[in-house]
Amino acid sequence: MAKDVIIACDFGSAEQTFAFLDRFTEEKPFVKIGMELFYAEGPQIVREIKRRGHKIFLDLKLHDIPNTVKKAMRSLSALDADIVNLHAAGTRAMMEAALEGLTREDGTRPLLIAVTQLTSTDQAAMERELLIEKPIDEVVMAYAGNAARAGLDGVVCSPLEAGKVHERCGEGFLTVTPGVRFAEGEKGDQKRVTTPAQARELGSDYIVVGRPITQSGDPVAAYRRCVKEFLG
Ligand code: C5P
Repeated sequence: MAKDVIIACDFGSAEQTFAFLDRFTEEKPFVKIGMELFYAEGPQIVREIKRRGHKIFLDLKLHDIPNTVKKAMRSLSALDADIVNLHAAGTRAMMEAALEGLTREDGTRPLLIAVTQLTSTDQAAMERELLIEKPIDEVVMAYAGNAARAGLDGVVCSPLEAGKVHERCGEGFLTVTPGVRFAEGEKGDQKRVTTPAQARELGSDYIVVGRPITQSGDPVAAYRRCVKEFLG
C-alpha cells in the first residue's frame, strides 16, 4: 500500500478549487474533498477532479441507518472516489452495510475508513452530552477495533495515535492522519500536531494537509516539501 500526502481542498467553489489545482503542472496530488465543496458543487466536482487525473478522498462522514448508508455508498461508489468515510459511531451493522453498498458488481470498491471520535469532541463533552464515561483514548481504540472487525480498511486519526491503531488493528489497517504542520508553521485550530517527518516515524499511512499547503504563498513548493519530509 502506497503512502501519500493528501491535500485537503477546503474551498467553497469549483472555481477556487480548479484555480488551486491548476498550479500543479508537474504532479497530480491526491486530494480530499469535504462537505463544503461537495454540497456546493455536487457530484460533478468529483467527476471533474477524477477526470483531471487526481486520486480523491471523499470526506463526507456518513452516519445513518444501515440501509440508507448502504444505498448512499452505492451512489458514491459510482463516482469512483479512491477513499470514502463514515462515522464508526453508526455501529458495526452500519459499517458492514456501507461496505456492501460500496462494492461494485465486479468486486472492486473504494477504500472505506472510519472517523472514531471527532477531535472537536473532548472528554467533558463526551461524558456530559454523549453519556460515554470511558477515557477518550479507549473509546477511539474501541471504535477503531469495531471498524476493523466490520472489514473496513482503516481510520482517520492523529499521527500520535497511528502506532496504537496499528498495534490493535494490524499494520495493514490504514491510518489517515490530519493535524500535520511544518516545524515552524502556525497550528491554527489544530491542537495536537506533528510534522510530516514525525508522522512518517509514527507510522501514518496517509497525511492529510490543508492550510499549510492551500494558504501558502507557494502551494506547490509546500506540497513538495510535505512529500519529501513524509516519504523521505
Ligand atoms: O488545514 P488543515 O491542515 O488543518 O486541514 C486538515 C483537514 O483534515 C481539514 O479538512 C479537516 O476538516 C480534516 N480533519 C481534521 N481532524 C479530524 C478529521 C478531519 O483536521 N479529526
